[in-house]
Amino acid sequence: MAAKLIKGTEISKQIREQITKEIEELKERHGVTPGLATILVGDDPGSKVYVGQKEKACGKLGIYSERTDLPANTSEQDVLALVAKCNENPNLHGILVQLPLPKHIDATRVIDAINPEKDVDCFHPANVGKLVIGTGRFLPCTPHGIMELLRRSGIDTAGKHAVVVGRSNIVGKPIANLMLQSPPGGNATVTLCHTGTKDLATYTRMADILIVAVGHPKTITGDMVKEGVVVIDVGVNRIGKTPEGKAILAGDVDFDSVQEKAAAITPVPGGVGPMTITMLMKNTVEAARATLA
Ligand SMILES: NC(=O)c1ccc[n+]([C@@H]2O[C@H](COP(=O)([O-])OP(=O)(O)OC[C@H]3O[C@@H](n4cnc5c(N)ncnc54)[C@H](OP(=O)(O)O)[C@@H]3O)[C@@H](O)[C@H]2O)c1
Repeated sequence: MAAKLIKGTEISKQIREQITKEIEELKERHGVTPGLATILVGDDPGSKVYVGQKEKACGKLGIYSERTDLPANTSEQDVLALVAKCNENPNLHGILVQLPLPKHIDATRVIDAINPEKDVDCFHPANVGKLVIGTGRFLPCTPHGIMELLRRSGIDTAGKHAVVVGRSNIVGKPIANLMLQSPPGGNATVTLCHTGTKDLATYTRMADILIVAVGHPKTITGDMVKEGVVVIDVGVNRIGKTPEGKAILAGDVDFDSVQEKAAAITPVPGGVGPMTITMLMKNTVEAARATLA
C-alpha cells in the first residue's frame, strides 16, 4: 500500500498563517517589527538561492530583512565586524550567516560571535547546550521543522524507536536530541547512525520512525525498512537539470521502493525543505518578542 504523504508545503503554510498573526500583533500592540539580518559571503549558487528564499519569506510575512552580500575574498575580521554591528542593531532581532563560509573564514569563530539571543539558526554553543538540556529558547530550524511535521501529522513518537542516519551538527545531532527529550520532545528511544555504523540496514530495519540526513541520493532503499515505518527524508540532492535548466532534486531515500512499505513519508521536494525557512521566521518572531520582556 502506498504511504501517506507528509506534506511540508501545506503544514508550512498553516504555520506561516499563525506567524503572520503574531507579527501583526507585535506591530500593532508593541510597535515592534521583527527584523532579520542575512549575511552571505561568496558566490555559492546554492547559498544564493537559500538566502534569496529567506529574504522572500521575510517580505511575504512582514519581517524586516537586511541582506548583506560580501565578496568571497572578504576577511574574517570584516565578517566579524559586520556580525558585531548586527548584534548592536536593535532593529535586527535575528542574525543568519549563510553556511558554508569560504575556507579562509573560521565558521566556528563567526558563529561564536553572534549574540546567542539573536542566534535564530540555533548554532551558537550556548544555544546548542540549552537544546541538549531541554531549556532552549530557539530550536534549530530543520530539526524543529521535522518535529512540527510529525506532531501536525498526528504521528505519536512516544516510546517509538527513532533511528536517525547522519550526525551533522545542523540536522542529525539536534534531531536525535529532540527526539529523545521528554515531552514536548519526542520521548522516543533513539539510535544515531553514521558512516562508522556497521551494517546500517540492521538499524534502519528496526526503525518505527526513520530520519535520514546523509546528503547522498537513494542511501535508504525499500529492503532497508520495515512495513509501517514513518520516514522523514531531509536530503536535498541535485541529481540533474530539466531541459529548461531547473535543478532536479532527490532526497536521501529511494522514494519509490520505500513508500511501498512506509505508513507515511515526506516527499522531496515539498517535505522538510519548506519547514526549515518557516521555522527560521518563527525564531525571528520569538527573538523579537523576547525583547519586550
Ligand atoms: N531540507 C532542508 O531544509 C535541509 C536542511 C539541512 C540539510 N539538508 C540536506 O540534508 C542532507 C544532509 O545534510 P547535513 O548538513 O546533515 O550533511 P553533512 O554535514 O554532510 O552530514 C552528513 C552525515 O551523514 C553521514 N553519512 C553520510 N553517508 C552515510 C552513509 N552512507 N551511511 C551512514 N551515514 C552516512 C555522515 O557521517 P560521518 O559523520 O561519519 O561523515 C554525516 O554525519 C543534505 O542533502 C542537505 O542538503 C536539507
